[in-house]
Amino acid sequence: MTFPKCILRLFSEKQREIIRYWLQCIPAFFYQNDLSKLAKPYGTDKYEHGYTEIYQQYFKDIKHKKLRILEIGIGGGENTKFGGNSLKMWPKYFPKSEILGIDIYDKSLLDYRRIKTFQGSQSDEKFLSQFHNLDIIIDDGSHINSDVIRSFEILFPKLNVGGYYCVEDTQVSGSREFTIDDYPETISYFKELKLDNSKINFYDGLVLIEKMN
Ligand SMILES: C[S@@+](CC[C@H](N)C(=O)[O-])C[C@H]1O[C@@H](n2cnc3c(N)ncnc32)[C@H](O)[C@@H]1O
Repeated sequence: MTFPKCILRLFSEKQREIIRYWLQCIPAFFYQNDLSKLAKPYGTDKYEHGYTEIYQQYFKDIKHKKLRILEIGIGGGENTKFGGNSLKMWPKYFPKSEILGIDIYDKSLLDYRRIKTFQGSQSDEKFLSQFHNLDIIIDDGSHINSDVIRSFEILFPKLNVGGYYCVEDTQVSGSREFTIDDYPETISYFKELKLDNSKINFYDGLVLIEKMN
């Protein structure tokens, strides 16, 4: 929904973000049980990639629980006013959960109610050490193989039993752009990984790991 500029000027960036948040509650009210339909008004490409359909299968039975969900990569790149498409969707699908977002750029404009953002890199162990007790982790950050693998090795131990670790856009892991050091391709890494009490599921562009009892 677009407002005339003269009306928008009456509000600060933060106030505009809050107005957007509440306007998006209208479609969200109707689609809160269908993640693929919910994704559309938020403009996240998780729907086009088919991830929302897969997530729905895994998350539908836990959506009403009080969870701690962490997404790596908020979107909008260096523009601090852009991004948050998926971050703003998650509170509508998970009505009681806390939603944490990480990005290398400041995305604090999105901090509101159950959404909290943190500025830092997904490969920075010290930065990641502040996160604990997580139920769902979604890596949609740099997609660089070393970043993805490092984040996984640091954060997977912090995932609660019964939780899910999701790595998106794994189809890019073979391209040079995302291979900047000696780390293996994300897909090969997960194919060779042996984890006790966990199940690694492979989908088109998505790896989803279930941490079992
Ligand atoms: C694909 S976008 C995320 C899109 C968002 N998850 C969505 O579905 O709407 C990727 C984001 O990752 C961030 N990013 C890039 N490198 C990163 C790093 N090393 N650590 C954390 N975030 C990073 C970028 O700034 C960008 O905003």
